Amino acid sequence: MAGSFLKGRFLSLFDYKTEKYIVAKNKKVGVLYRLIQLSIIGYIIGWVFLSKKGYQETDEAIQSSVITKVKGVSVTNTSESGLVVWGPEDYVIPPQGEAVLFIVTSFLETPTQKLGYCAENAKVLNGHCQDDEDCEKGKMIVAGNGIMSGRCLGKNKNSTGTCEIYAWCPIERNFKPQGPLLSNAENFTMYIKNFIHFPKFSFSKSNVLETNDYSYLKKCRYDEQLHPYCPIFRLGDITRRAGYNFQDMATFGGSIGIVIQWDCDLDKGYSYCHPQYHFTRLDISISEKTIATGFNFRQTQYFRNAAGERYRSLFKVYGVRFNIMVHGKAGKFNIIPTAINVGSGLALMGAGAFFCDMVLLYLMKKGDSYRERKFEETKSKKSSAEDNNVEERNDPMEQENLTF
Ligand SMILES: *[C@@H]1O[C@H](CO)[C@@H](O)[C@H](O)[C@H]1NC(C)=O
Repeated sequence: MAGSFLKGRFLSLFDYKTEKYIVAKNKKVGVLYRLIQLSIIGYIIGWVFLSKKGYQETDEAIQSSVITKVKGVSVTNTSESGLVVWGPEDYVIPPQGEAVLFIVTSFLETPTQKLGYCAENAKVLNGHCQDDEDCEKGKMIVAGNGIMSGRCLGKNKNSTGTCEIYAWCPIERNFKPQGPLLSNAENFTMYIKNFIHFPKFSFSKSNVLETNDYSYLKKCRYDEQLHPYCPIFRLGDITRRAGYNFQDMATFGGSIGIVIQWDCDLDKGYSYCHPQYHFTRLDISISEKTIATGFNFRQTQYFRNAAGERYRSLFKVYGVRFNIMVHGKAGKFNIIPTAINVGSGLALMGAGAFFCDMVLLYLMKKGDSYRERKFEETKSKKSSAEDNNVEERNDPMEQENLTF
């Protein structure tokens, strides 16, 4: 007996079971169900597949290299240094063609500074003194320019003076730029060479037009419609695209972000992967009036005179910093994301059916009668625990035993 029972169990594995449906003649829930189905299908086709390209495998780990080169010449005429010609090697810092580069537009030069004793700048608050005791010998001044010598330099005994310091003298004078000194800097051009690579798809491209015409890069200027593959930008055009006037930025300096965005649909082919440029000013805050706008820093040039004494020229430079960032992603058809998205779409359909069940059974007036039909209650017989044949179970595999 036990043997035939096990055999029956085993054979029932190969019976095909199909679900039984209850048709509820309720048009409200019917329409609701169709609407849910329709919106889920719309979501899957319209959003997941067409808009988000859910059938594609994507690669967002873009590898990129940026090389820059600035061209243009400017002439300055200042009382400190006379007529000076500025080439890219002078005004681009650092000069080796980085993705982050600073272009000098204005400067204050303090020429021929020499190590020695002189008065601290009156703007340095910790350098103020009434008498020599305020200037302790050998002490540094916080945010000052040198080491105190122990003397207080003032006009007379009672007035406030400044401590004498050992430093590079003369000290830089106070300065507020009146306007850009490299006045034609907006006409300088920047060549941005960008190579990208998507390792997952072994796809490489550059933002420079592929042509044999060597004079192309000499003549062209970037234009979104006419020359999208000409990577030569006039500095004035870059700030204009970011929404600012170059001359306004040039006086106190600023910072501009250039984003090169590559969105590549590799199903369409090589020529459908274009660089897109976005320009933004980065150093501006919501409230226009702030002490934080502008950009300047100091740098020095050292030299010795004929007698071998060491001198330096101090430059406080103002300018615009350009920060080139590359973002991108590539997508290509792949069966696995397609299958996952179709599967999750079908699962959503199931959620629709569940929701309609809830409405039908618990929110409708006749919900009770539907519930009675949907959930059939069964009573198990107490006595026949061993006689499996008559006990009805919830497990559909076991219900098959009733046919013996
Ligand atoms: C820039 O170049 C244009 C055309 O060559 C010229 O008209 C303009 O004056 C220049 N701008 C500056 C600030 O030098």
